[in-house]
Amino acid sequence: MEDLENKIQQIAKLIINSENIIALTGAGMSTESGIADFRSPGTGLWEKVNPDEFASIHSYVSDTGKNLKFMLEMGMNIFKSNPNKGHKSLTKLQKLGKLKGVLTQNVDGLHKRAKTKNVIELHGTAHEAICMRCHTVYPITKMIDQVLRSNKSPSCELCQGLLKPNAIFFGEPLQSETLEQADKMISNCDLLIVLGSSLLVYPVAFYPRKVLSCGAKLVIINIQETDMDDHAEIVIHEKIGDVMPKIVEIVAENLE
Ligand SMILES: NC(=O)c1ccc[n+]([C@@H]2O[C@H](COP(=O)([O-])OP(=O)(O)OC[C@H]3O[C@@H](n4cnc5c(N)ncnc54)[C@H](O)[C@@H]3O)[C@@H](O)[C@H]2O)c1
Ligand SMILES: [Zn+2]
Repeated sequence: MEDLENKIQQIAKLIINSENIIALTGAGMSTESGIADFRSPGTGLWEKVNPDEFASIHSYVSDTGKNLKFMLEMGMNIFKSNPNKGHKSLTKLQKLGKLKGVLTQNVDGLHKRAKTKNVIELHGTAHEAICMRCHTVYPITKMIDQVLRSNKSPSCELCQGLLKPNAIFFGEPLQSETLEQADKMISNCDLLIVLGSSLLVYPVAFYPRKVLSCGAKLVIINIQETDMDDHAEIVIHEKIGDVMPKIVEIVAENLE
């Protein structure tokens, strides 16, 4: 316990002494909002479904109906969720002038809903649908309404192409423009705080090494170990919502 309080103090100090802080967040950021991550033992979605069968672009195109059922379930969970203490603490840190931006793997939109600014959603968003043929973007409600009404594959009103959620599926490339923005954000950073990412999915898995090679410091908060723990200045294996508000409170007190 003493050790944890000590680490919380040390992270607050690092934040106070850094100028260009970026948070890198994964699905663990939103588990406390009731959205399951993929890889946590016992609760991760991968224990229930096979990623190749459900979250890949190939399976979506070849068996849209089966995939839509899974996606609607996951989507509904996302749409009824709210930002948690972790998301709110990042917004507070940003208001204190101590967080430049957030790079997230999440598609739930909860950072934006918590009113954090300068958020890059690397894997897109579950709140939109996109036409796979002409790339027109629609609010996701348009796609859901169609599926619930007709029980058929959802299609674009302009070209009848297949609609999919505007999130990156396995087997799909990330948008090059988004990657460029992320690179730019990372290149100036002097402290990277990784929150709730297993750091197993690329390109996010690269970012900690990249910032370290430029002389930046790394902090990791995750309930489990990650491969980058040994390279981090400070690692805390606790829930984000239990530690981030405390860290931000100390930063706020010291900046006043
Ligand atoms: N909320 C979402 O939008 C959502 C949910 C599931 C999956 N995804 C997608 O799946 C991919 C999964 O990759 P990932 O690396 O982000 O997730 P992951 O499932 O691989 O890893 C989540 C990590 O968070 C940790 N964790 C879980 N709850 C935590 C908590 N309360 N506090 C601290 N740590 C916690 C786990 O130990 C794990 O290491 C992402 O790329 C994302 O696109 C998104
Ligand atoms: Zn179209």
